Amino acid sequence: MPTEERALLVDADRRAIAYNDSLAQRRVYPNESAIAALTNFDTPLPETGQAATQVLHSLDELGSPATVTSNGPRYFGFVIGATLPAAAAAERLVLAWDQCASSFDGSPIADKLEKVAACWVCEALGLPNKSAVGFGTSATACTLACLSAARRTLLARQGWDFDQDGLIGAPEIRVVISETAHITVKKALRVLGFGMRRLQLAPIDEHGRIDPARLPKLDERTLLILQAGEVNTGEFDRFAELIPKARAAGAWVHVDGAFGLWARASSSAGLADGVELADSWTTDGHKWLNTPYDSAMAICRDGDALAAAMNSDAAYAMASKDSQKNLTLEFSRRARGVAIWAALANLGRAGLRDMIDQHIRQAGHLAAELRNGGYQVLNRVRLNQVLVRADSDEQTAAILKAAQDSGEVWFGATIWQGRPAFRLSVSSWRTTDADIEVLIALLLRLKNT
Ligand SMILES: Cc1ncc(COP(=O)(O)O)c(C=O)c1O
Repeated sequence: MPTEERALLVDADRRAIAYNDSLAQRRVYPNESAIAALTNFDTPLPETGQAATQVLHSLDELGSPATVTSNGPRYFGFVIGATLPAAAAAERLVLAWDQCASSFDGSPIADKLEKVAACWVCEALGLPNKSAVGFGTSATACTLACLSAARRTLLARQGWDFDQDGLIGAPEIRVVISETAHITVKKALRVLGFGMRRLQLAPIDEHGRIDPARLPKLDERTLLILQAGEVNTGEFDRFAELIPKARAAGAWVHVDGAFGLWARASSSAGLADGVELADSWTTDGHKWLNTPYDSAMAICRDGDALAAAMNSDAAYAMASKDSQKNLTLEFSRRARGVAIWAALANLGRAGLRDMIDQHIRQAGHLAAELRNGGYQVLNRVRLNQVLVRADSDEQTAAILKAAQDSGEVWFGATIWQGRPAFRLSVSSWRTTDADIEVLIALLLRLKNT
């Protein structure tokens, strides 16, 4: 390797390590001056390029201070997770490999590791072990892939050839989703041509789960979408009751388990009993598995259905149906399943269970202490989500802002049952019990000032 290239990579590593070393001390959200300094990037495209060392220097000096420390221990927003060292290190090597991980031909090693990771993911989540697993960019993209497989299959059962005849004149597929379905599920449906006005919303109970007694009618033209981990409460639809009914009616059942599906790998697996009966599932690595962005999985019981919907074989690029280019939206793609393989190889079943258990325990403790401190905790806190309100909407908003401005922690706002609340998610492997105490102390202090 040329000396300059080596020096550059060493410098990048040094800077990355220094950043990681500072994670626990950094502000969790950047301050105003770091954000204001980003205007330094507003330059015209240079006619003559800068030296690579200078590019890296600007990135670190101006860029690093303006990062959100979601890779640290006290980020409680969204369900973002941090990056496990084994997964981060694997990413470093994968970047050096620079594989086009479409199929065996593009990368035998990526093909092998993604096949192994696919089996491990199904095993860890207790899903049918012959399922196809496409490693896509996000739960959004993977939901889109699964729902295309669902639509194509439901139409084929009606004698309709979707690939050749498309949607015009096709029998209508009725989509039944929860009133609390995640916005990205609706986005996937919108992109696929299911109009929002035509969706049938299944009413929910007080926990945000579909109420089985009020489930709209299901038949062989129905696509029923359930959730494992409602975004506010972390609740699970009642799979064991709903899925057998739906499958008996001939419907396709898809489960959005972007973060909550990982409960299946924990001692709280019973929360998602029956989820394995569905036809397809989506989940993320970049949330609760603590793999780097971006990393998600489209999992389909009928592997052929996903492979047919996502097929992108061409005369010059033929590949087996379980090749990643035939299971995901991408044709050229990075080997994103390798970080998932590395995370699972490093954690093992026991490590994965311990990590998820720890977050569930920490969320329970957080909820109990906040209740003791006079907060309303609005959900049952069986998972890693704590939904909180102070005495009034004004106080809730003021506490949220003060906590965000403090730089000690970060979490976000939501609306629950028509009123503002804030959402605390525990999902970083770096979060220790001491970090939870920092969060509790801050929130109690803010409530009493
Ligand atoms: C329940 C749920 N579904 C889907 C998504 C979308 O995931 P992604 O951001 O990976 O597309 C999210 C997360 O943001 C989520 O929490």
